[in-house]
Amino acid sequence: MRRIETNGYSLEVGSIIESSFSNLLKQKYADSKKVILVDENTHANCLSYIITNFSELSEAEVIMLPAGEDSKQMELTYSVWEALTEYGITRFDLIINLGGGVITDMGGFIASCYKRGCDFINIPTSLLAMVDASIGGKTGINLGHFKNQLGVFSNPVALYIDPVFLSTLPGKEVLSGFGEMIKHGLIADAELYNAVRDEMLHGETLEEDILVRCIEVKNEVVKQDPKESGLRKILNFGHTVGHVIEGHFLPTLKLSHGHSIAIGMVMEAYISMKRVGLSVSDYEELATFILGQYQLPEFSDEDIKSMLSMLQNDKKNRADKILCCLIPALGECVYDQEVDEQMFLETFMHFKNLQVNLN
Ligand SMILES: NC(=O)c1ccc[n+]([C@@H]2O[C@H](COP(=O)([O-])OP(=O)(O)OC[C@H]3O[C@@H](n4cnc5c(N)ncnc54)[C@H](O)[C@@H]3O)[C@@H](O)[C@H]2O)c1
Repeated sequence: MRRIETNGYSLEVGSIIESSFSNLLKQKYADSKKVILVDENTHANCLSYIITNFSELSEAEVIMLPAGEDSKQMELTYSVWEALTEYGITRFDLIINLGGGVITDMGGFIASCYKRGCDFINIPTSLLAMVDASIGGKTGINLGHFKNQLGVFSNPVALYIDPVFLSTLPGKEVLSGFGEMIKHGLIADAELYNAVRDEMLHGETLEEDILVRCIEVKNEVVKQDPKESGLRKILNFGHTVGHVIEGHFLPTLKLSHGHSIAIGMVMEAYISMKRVGLSVSDYEELATFILGQYQLPEFSDEDIKSMLSMLQNDKKNRADKILCCLIPALGECVYDQEVDEQMFLETFMHFKNLQVNLN
């Protein structure tokens, strides 16, 4: 069991059976009602593991949501608040979020607003939620097509990361989680980047040391800058272009978050080479590796026009300037870099031509 120091809550990585979870339930929450929030997949694949191993949860209420990003919206949030009221849940009770990033983001938001704040515990079950979404206190839901538009910063009482849940995670979702792991290496630790790359190319089961190191990178950054006034912005590397790719191709390709971010990282690495001195050899190595794992979508001039206009609406922009994170070298990241529309146009054209040559 690895215990990682955080901003005041328990973060444990390893078998949840050996963690402090049982004692916490027996002691602090002995007299509290417990609610477990799941989606349909974690209901089918993860819930029984928790219920059978923790008798303290035998009476817990279970609230199940449909799986996927479409659930992260106000109507369903409202229906969960109504269910909590119906079950007579008070501010002294406990909500347990058992799921991927949708459940941890949404459940954290639901708990933090309910009766002015109810305790919650995160038990992430997807790789992406383990290395990213469940850590750092960002909770929220989408507003129409605008991602994470409603939310609060709020930390769980405890976060238990147990790789046991990865055994049922579909391959596409594993690849999505690896996208954020590559990012953690690229922005903060070149050795970690090499380890994640080797794991993806040659590994059979995910090494726990690599998982832990990715968790540490995210945790260290958010500990230093919990509300994203500076350093935390480096976690957005790949996301300026990645969110545009994700949104633009959502109706047709349904790319996962991590896949979109991986493509975003290659494009922002290309801009890094042009603007902040990332070496040509490092750029070429990472582009070959990432595009070998994550298929580059095909796009037309019309797609480029639409993606450029989406870039103007990015929530990270300030005073009409498109701001981006760039990497001057592997394992280093600078934030708030102004990149003009011409540079994005050149980047999209470069990858459009690359796609043509790949075919
Ligand atoms: N709060 C943050 O800092 C932060 C950071 C990154 C991403 N996010 C958010 O996280 C979300 C994406 O997270 P995600 O990729 O985990 O999405 P997700 O929660 O939709 O999970 C992906 C899919 O995997 C399934 N699943 C999860 N665990 C499973 C398991 N053990 N076995 C079988 N199926 C399983 C889910 O049901 C879903 O179908 C997005 O909404 C994104 O905005 C938040």
